[in-house]
Amino acid sequence: MAKVLAFDVYGTLIDTHGVVSELEQRLGALGKAELAPEFSRRWRDKQLEYSFRRGLMGAYEPFVRCTEEALVFTDRALRAGLSDTDRDHLMQIYAELPAFPEAEGALASLGEAGVTCVAFSNGTAAAVEGLLEQAGIRGYFADVVSVDEVKRFKPDPAVYAHLRHRLESEPGDTWLISSNAFDVIGARHAGLHAAWVRRSPEAPFDPWGIEPDLTVTDLDALAERLG
Ligand code: LAC
Repeated sequence: MAKVLAFDVYGTLIDTHGVVSELEQRLGALGKAELAPEFSRRWRDKQLEYSFRRGLMGAYEPFVRCTEEALVFTDRALRAGLSDTDRDHLMQIYAELPAFPEAEGALASLGEAGVTCVAFSNGTAAAVEGLLEQAGIRGYFADVVSVDEVKRFKPDPAVYAHLRHRLESEPGDTWLISSNAFDVIGARHAGLHAAWVRRSPEAPFDPWGIEPDLTVTDLDALAERLG
């Protein structure tokens, strides 16, 4: 079977920076615009922590719940004082974020090279379908594979096994593409190939002795190497 690339969604295909602009406005109205970058970082870290903890506890809930509960926690931790309306609006923004500017061109050239691409996310299939659709890139993916189908979160080995099962692919033909180091390590640990999209030159990689097969700066560079 030919090579299949399974793309992580948040932060890899979809640019979550739009949340910072919205946070700046909402927090700005409370006189706390300077909190926005820290708020955004802590929200994302807590969202992932909640997914890891739910995985360990065997208490799976759809990823959007981790996102929403992490938003409430971050608001409490930073004493930001966001209203219910602010939080609803931020959750709405999260469901409508744009793709990174180079994503569409890179996906098109991978498609022309005959490479099969799928989306592979902690988000539910419905959430990911909606996000990719409104970002204008759904058509480049042969399928959307969600961890929700096995009720576990990345980096549980079960989710990478499920990905291979869904793709009917051999480990050596299956690539995980992610800007999240924990996802790259999870995929390598489960026997898949993995490319790390290191969008920032300052981004550190976990020193676990498990390395990506390939490190690229963006999706154009990925398409050049794997297309
Ligand atoms: C995802 C998160 C981990 O899309 O970014 O799976």
